[in-house]
Amino acid sequence: MSRLVVVSNRVPSPRERTQPAGGLTVGVRDAVRGTESLWFGWSGQQRADIAKQKPDLDRVDSVTYATIDLTHEQYERFYENFANGLLWPLCHYRIGIIEFSREDLQVYREVNDMFADHLVPLLREDDTIWIHDYHLFPLGEALRKRGVKAKIGFFLHIPFPPWSVMRVLPCAAQLLHELTAYDLIGVQTEEDVRNLDGCFEICGLNKRAYHFPIGIDPAEFAEQAVQSVMAPEVKRLKDSLRGRKLIIGVDRLDYSKGIPERFHGYEVFLNRYPEHKGEVVLLQVTPVSRAGVGSYQELRRELDELAGHINAMHGNFDWSPIRYLTQSAPRHILAGFHRIADVALVTPLRDGMNLVAKEFIAAQDEHDPGALILSYLAGAAPEMPEALLVNPYDAEDIADALHEALSMTPKERKRRWRVLHDDVTRNTASNWSETFLDMLRDTQPQA
Ligand code: F6P
Repeated sequence: MSRLVVVSNRVPSPRERTQPAGGLTVGVRDAVRGTESLWFGWSGQQRADIAKQKPDLDRVDSVTYATIDLTHEQYERFYENFANGLLWPLCHYRIGIIEFSREDLQVYREVNDMFADHLVPLLREDDTIWIHDYHLFPLGEALRKRGVKAKIGFFLHIPFPPWSVMRVLPCAAQLLHELTAYDLIGVQTEEDVRNLDGCFEICGLNKRAYHFPIGIDPAEFAEQAVQSVMAPEVKRLKDSLRGRKLIIGVDRLDYSKGIPERFHGYEVFLNRYPEHKGEVVLLQVTPVSRAGVGSYQELRRELDELAGHINAMHGNFDWSPIRYLTQSAPRHILAGFHRIADVALVTPLRDGMNLVAKEFIAAQDEHDPGALILSYLAGAAPEMPEALLVNPYDAEDIADALHEALSMTPKERKRRWRVLHDDVTRNTASNWSETFLDMLRDTQPQA
């Protein structure tokens, strides 16, 4: 079996317990585990002078981690502006907040070229290369230009919009053309396939995409959840509830996750179903990322205000309806939080997949499982129809779903959970990576 080379913008530190949030780390970690592999990407560090830098190498078990730094300008123009100020909102259908600049595009390309320059010397002839996410759309082409003949696959973890949205991007046709350098292109859902294939067709490119919905390692997460119930953090949370029902939300601080809309829905719920007042707590865990991007700063202000408003308007001297945190928590502790939660609120306005929905299901106690409320605009929704599906823009829909979830009979909760658990167990992170890599290895070499 050839060595697997994974490339992603962010590479988790193999020695730290708290890992970067997001599905990419969860899925890719599983793909490289126990496999002879190299995981290449950005270190998460910036420094003024990178002229003489060499990749920093660290080997843990079968995986070599190779990382490079970015300059301050690259961080700003490549990561903050082009990848997260432009491509991210565009792919999440948020044309109104994108900002395009040719200088940012140039630095985006420059960083992709720099990744290629540092990666090529580390490559072996029989490697299989798997590149991840929108930061690295042009990397396959950059590697081909440097003579790399290996199989190269690309997987997009976030949604891909239709041409009517994509065409807003001045360099859309060129980026699509660059994607044709890949031997296999994977996206999360059938809708993404239709959108990307539609773009290829309109641009006259003979290429197609396939969908590979990403999953988690449900057995591992369930085990962490069971063990963490005894952890001091989880015990403290449970004690602090004093018998109240726990509603949980876990998301990166990102406008695509629909958190203000969720808070509005929760407020409507408290108004419309006052019998739950004092009987429930919404714990929203929201680690901050991309703090330098303007739209994220605005979101943070909005959420601070909204959480304060709801607690002030509806709380009492012995009860706060929302506990809103912006610090991150270790994954195993989150697993424990999920296990003791009665309801999960997963209401993104758009999401490539959303693994939190799957993690919540995996963490539940089969004898008394909680209920999942899921946005039908999440990539996970087509796979999880037994969740209470809601429109995340409709506060009353969220309110009604919360009431339904909290009033559901144990029999109905178990019935829904069993079906959802089967879905989560069938489509794991290992199946996802194996299916993608088998198909990539079977592709015909490019002419
Ligand atoms: O899955 C989407 C994604 O952008 C990943 O590429 C990334 O690692 C994760 O979300 C977290 O985002 P960031 O690296 O910008 O904090």
